[in-house]
Amino acid sequence: MKVLLSFDQIQARVLEMGAQLTADYSGREPHLVGVLKGACPFMTDLAQAIELPLTLDYIAVSSYGRATKSTGEVKLVKDLDQGLEGRDLLIVEDIVDTGLTLNYLVNLLGARGPRSLKVVTLLSKPARRLVSVHVDYVGFTIEDEFVVGYGIDFAQRNRNLPHIGKVRFIEESPKE
Ligand code: IMP
Repeated sequence: MKVLLSFDQIQARVLEMGAQLTADYSGREPHLVGVLKGACPFMTDLAQAIELPLTLDYIAVSSYGRATKSTGEVKLVKDLDQGLEGRDLLIVEDIVDTGLTLNYLVNLLGARGPRSLKVVTLLSKPARRLVSVHVDYVGFTIEDEFVVGYGIDFAQRNRNLPHIGKVRFIEESPKE
């Protein structure tokens, strides 16, 4: 595994994003909805970097499981605890890849009457999009590569890495 983004690079960018959101939401109280489990570290650091009153909630949708390719199916696993009526909703994602998850979430949550809806993601892989989704705030745009760390997993592991690493998969040669 190679380090793609160091702890310091991530923290510096999250502070910048927090400052941007503080300016953009000045005078308002954003409601941050983090997508479990991958967005947890980002959600925590980002929320601390926003110098405004805000509220937090979490949602869980089905993810890759043990495979590295998206199946295209998105399923709601855990719904929100609070309603969204009249709120300035910010969906907080770890990574937007094919865009299928985000597309599902924007449709689902957008129908619940928020006053505004914007999307913030730490990482975006635009080369992999299958559906066109609008992302308002992107931490880092990355190539088509599989990454782990800072909340992002491979088969539920590596979420606890403080940096983001790029995984190199080695093909197993057929047994003699
Ligand atoms: P999408 O629906 O294809 O955009 O994928 C979104 C979800 O897929 C993310 O929230 C991640 O959980 C997972 N995912 C996408 N790319 C990666 C990756 O490079 N490493 C680990 N998980 C990924």
